[in-house]
Amino acid sequence: MLPRLPRLCAPRLCAPSGRLRVISTTAHRRSDALFNHRDTPYNNPQIEFKFTAENLKRAKEIISHYPPQYKKAAVIPLLDLGQRQNKGWTSISVMHYVADLLELPPMRVYEVATFYTMFNREPIGTNFVQVCTTTPCMLRGSTDILNATLSHLGGIKPGETTKDGKFTVIEVECQGACSNAPMLVVNDDFYEDLTPQSTKAILDAFAKGEKPKPGPQSGRRTSENSAGLTSLTTKPYGPGEFCQPEFQ
Ligand code: FES
Repeated sequence: MLPRLPRLCAPRLCAPSGRLRVISTTAHRRSDALFNHRDTPYNNPQIEFKFTAENLKRAKEIISHYPPQYKKAAVIPLLDLGQRQNKGWTSISVMHYVADLLELPPMRVYEVATFYTMFNREPIGTNFVQVCTTTPCMLRGSTDILNATLSHLGGIKPGETTKDGKFTVIEVECQGACSNAPMLVVNDDFYEDLTPQSTKAILDAFAKGEKPKPGPQSGRRTSENSAGLTSLTTKPYGPGEFCQPEFQ
C-alpha cells in the first residue's frame, strides 16, 4: 500500500501562512465569438458571396502588388474589402471566397479573421461605434463617454446592436489618437476631445442619417496645445540651416 502523501497546495494559490491568496484574473468571456464558427441561418457556407465587378477589379489590383508566390499577403486587404461589401462583417462565405481567390486553405483565412479584432464575425448596425477605453482615454473621461453612448442608445451593452439596427457599440483599445482623448470611432471616422454632450450630439446626427464633422470636437484644429502656443512663438526663419539671420 502506498504511503499517504501530505496534501500539497499549489504554490501560487497558497500564501506562506497556508491561507488562500486571491488571484486577480480578467473577466471570464462567456462567448465563443472570438474563435469558433457555428452555422446559423444568416452565416453559413451555403450563402453565396462574391465581389462585385468593381471590387473584383480592386482585389486584382491589390493582389498585383505582391509577387505571385506571396499573394497570400493580400489576405488582410481582401478580407477588409469583403467585409465592407458585406455590410461591415466578415461572414464564413467571405472568408471562403477570399481563400479561393488567393488559393489558400480556408484555415489560413480563418486564422487571420479570428485573430484581428477589426474583422466583425457577426452582423453589425449601420453605424459601428468603437469607444476607446485604454488608459490615456480613461484618464480623460472615457468611462463617461462609454456610459453616455450606451445610455443614449437605449441602454444597450458593449457588443450589442440597437433594436432599430442603427448602432453597434464596442469597447476598443488605443486607436492612436491619445493626444485628443477621449475619443470614439464611428465607421471610418475619429471623433475626438469628446464630452458626454458632444458624444450624444454625434450619435443624434448619425441617427438622422447625417455625418457630423470628424476630428476634435473642442475647437482644436488637430492636437495642438489647447492652452495656446508655448514654443515656436516667433516667426520662423527661412528654410535651411544657412538661412538664419547671421548667415543672410
Ligand atoms: S488611449 Fe484612446 S486613443 Fe489612445
